[in-house]
Amino acid sequence: MSTDNPADDARLSPASVDEPTFQNGRADGAADEDAPPVPNSKSSPSAVQPKVEIEDLDFWYDNGDTHALQGISMDIAPHQVTALIGPSGCGKSTLLRCVNRMNELIENTVLEGGIHVDGQDIYAEDTDPVMVRRRVGMVFQEPNPFPKTIYKNVAWGAEVNGYTGDMDALVERSLRQAALWDEVKDQLHSSAYNLSGGQQQRLCIARTLAVHPDVVLMDEPASALDPIATSKVEETITELKQDYTIVIVTHNMQQASRISDETAFLYMGRLVEMNPTDELFTRPEKDRTEAYVTGRFG
Ligand SMILES: Nc1ncnc2c1ncn2[C@@H]1O[C@H](COP(=O)(O)OP(=O)(O)OP(=O)(O)O)[C@@H](O)[C@H]1O
Ligand SMILES: [Mg+2]
Repeated sequence: MSTDNPADDARLSPASVDEPTFQNGRADGAADEDAPPVPNSKSSPSAVQPKVEIEDLDFWYDNGDTHALQGISMDIAPHQVTALIGPSGCGKSTLLRCVNRMNELIENTVLEGGIHVDGQDIYAEDTDPVMVRRRVGMVFQEPNPFPKTIYKNVAWGAEVNGYTGDMDALVERSLRQAALWDEVKDQLHSSAYNLSGGQQQRLCIARTLAVHPDVVLMDEPASALDPIATSKVEETITELKQDYTIVIVTHNMQQASRISDETAFLYMGRLVEMNPTDELFTRPEKDRTEAYVTGRFG
């Protein structure tokens, strides 16, 4: 999550994140094969600047022995849900963790290529990784609330950042955004461990939202939940895209087709295909995608 190392600065207003200038318009026409190359897509009124641009990304574990990602390039659109699918070990979690520099916390890893968020190179020497992780928050597979009250779980990131605003309002707003407020508003000061698994996961979403990220990464956020809790989390995700850009890893094809706008299929560290979700599931471009989405392998 974004607040794991909140060592610095008072960064709790979205306005504190400067709107960077667009530096690296894609010239490869990845989003539209028929369109001519656009050197700077911001100059075109119809073009939507990607929120996240991943460019020719390679990633290795074990001092180069495990080549987990190979030549990945993709644009992630703002205010959409993008799903990452693919068989176990294909690199989904690795890719997600590259987008908020969480992989750096693992020893003996090497990254090549680039990732830009709002045009800003998040791996530039002068980019603070703590800032990146605040701006690009993360929700994990297993709900992992702290052994604290519901209120303190949500307030924690803000507190350690020295937030001086109205904490009650921040907690309420974050819990409302995570669709949990109505269920917990009368027990804010009881332990988060008293909540069900699905409620705990929405609490973790609220905790991530409380530090105002732009992008929220979710690594199989519903895989440990029952169907009712899963559908609550899915509803929450669908509502969140109005305010955030969401990237979600899921093994559940129905879930990907229910909640995502675009889907990327990864296989053995490579991006095989990325397309609007309904197209990828009904008219996949690549045979390997078709084999995977129809359950013929994986
Ligand atoms: N911390 C690590 N150290 C070494 N190798 C790792 C590490 N994490 C992942 N890998 C390797 O990198 C490759 C990609 O793993 P990753 O966890 O990204 O896959 P995944 O698609 O998320 O799989 P799953 O669906 O099982 O979660 C695999 O070969 C895996 O063994
Ligand atoms: Mg994974």
